[in-house]
Amino acid sequence: MSHFSYLDGALHVESLPLDALARQFGTPLYVYSQAALADNFSAYADACRLAGRGDDQALVCYSVKSNSNLAVLNLLGKLGSGFDIVSGGELLRVIAAGGDPRKVIFSGVGKGRDEMRLALTHDILCFNVESIPELHRLNEVAGELGRRARISLRVNPDVDANTHPYISTGLKDNKFGVAYDDALACYRTAATLPHIDVVGIDCHIGSQLLDDAPLLEALDKVIELIDRLADEGIVLRHLDIGGGIGITYNDEQPVAVGDYLARVFARVDAWRSQRHAGAPIKVMFEPGRSIVGNAGVLLTEVQYLKHGESKNFAIVDAAMNDLMRPAMYEAWHGVQAVQQRPGATAVYDVVGPVCESGDWLARGRALNLEPGDLLALMSAGAYGMTMASNYNTRGRAAEVMVDGDRVHLIRRREVPADLFALESLIA
Ligand code: LLP
Repeated sequence: MSHFSYLDGALHVESLPLDALARQFGTPLYVYSQAALADNFSAYADACRLAGRGDDQALVCYSVKSNSNLAVLNLLGKLGSGFDIVSGGELLRVIAAGGDPRKVIFSGVGKGRDEMRLALTHDILCFNVESIPELHRLNEVAGELGRRARISLRVNPDVDANTHPYISTGLKDNKFGVAYDDALACYRTAATLPHIDVVGIDCHIGSQLLDDAPLLEALDKVIELIDRLADEGIVLRHLDIGGGIGITYNDEQPVAVGDYLARVFARVDAWRSQRHAGAPIKVMFEPGRSIVGNAGVLLTEVQYLKHGESKNFAIVDAAMNDLMRPAMYEAWHGVQAVQQRPGATAVYDVVGPVCESGDWLARGRALNLEPGDLLALMSAGAYGMTMASNYNTRGRAAEVMVDGDRVHLIRRREVPADLFALESLIA
């Protein structure tokens, strides 16, 4: 069920009309639905429960990079979520939001020494190690602190995720993870290091996957490795299958989260009962987009209409710096009029004020527009605000969270003075 819907021609988020939010907070404005967030997280949590898996046997680690607002992290933490982070900064956000560092897993190919120290000090659940040099560095840093680092190796299963090349991560020529054929040797090395505890295995093959077949193929390859490691006496306690289930932006029909998880658990259970006499293994997931993507929209106001010889442009007050996905991946986002108006439409490219031809948000959309109209760019909750920049000295948008008929400002709009506050003149 969508929490963004029309009531008497006016687009609402839960019980509130979006035009009232635009009046109160200005535009561009990111608007999130708390109920949508909770529902999307529940799809994962319920599937774990349905499979009879308690907290010790399944963990959903929300991928912070998709939307890292403190209020979002706080809500998900309260619902029991763990967190998948890729930087020390994201760990500090999780902690500031009241999240539990013991439920944090740290992914990423370039972890710095300071980031490792910070994560070890907070005793995070696991480092997802992506290379042998990283393993040695982590061993060293943990040794300096007199600690042991729990690790899993991110294995690159060489499975084609059939998604946009920029968000496909599980192929041989991607920078991520340890090559499948090298994984056994890496584990053997890890098992000899004095400040490393080998606890798990993980992979992540890509994002916005509509079909779970590649994910299940990756799971099978991971299972095969776990068995071979067990034969050598390296016994893993968890497997982490990454994030990646896609969402509907336009007419995509992604597999339902519950169905995907049920298939994962069925395979894992069948394998454990055959090979390991029912000994449990914890299964972890790192979803981002499928939790926040359709829980947020970007509200923008039409500034000017330009009717050109070959194209019409609707110039709006949001731009590529607010929502980078169209410019970067030619991503499609729905455009909905906040107030429906009957009558003839024209075909517009919806573009922003930034000085780049790549600054477009949507192309070739039939809309009936007048200057001053409000538009909602749909499905903008994931990789929207987190990828926003200050290009053209544009302050980043404000963010609000709606809960029923209440609205909370969860990030104030940046003002120009914020943007140069860290800069100084040469003395
Ligand atoms: N785990 C790891 C290790 C990841 O690299 C990612 C996303 C996730 C989990 C979460 O994946 P999700 O469930 O959101 O698909 N900026 C791009 C998406 C980049 C995804 C990067 N990795 C976009 O806007 O489409």
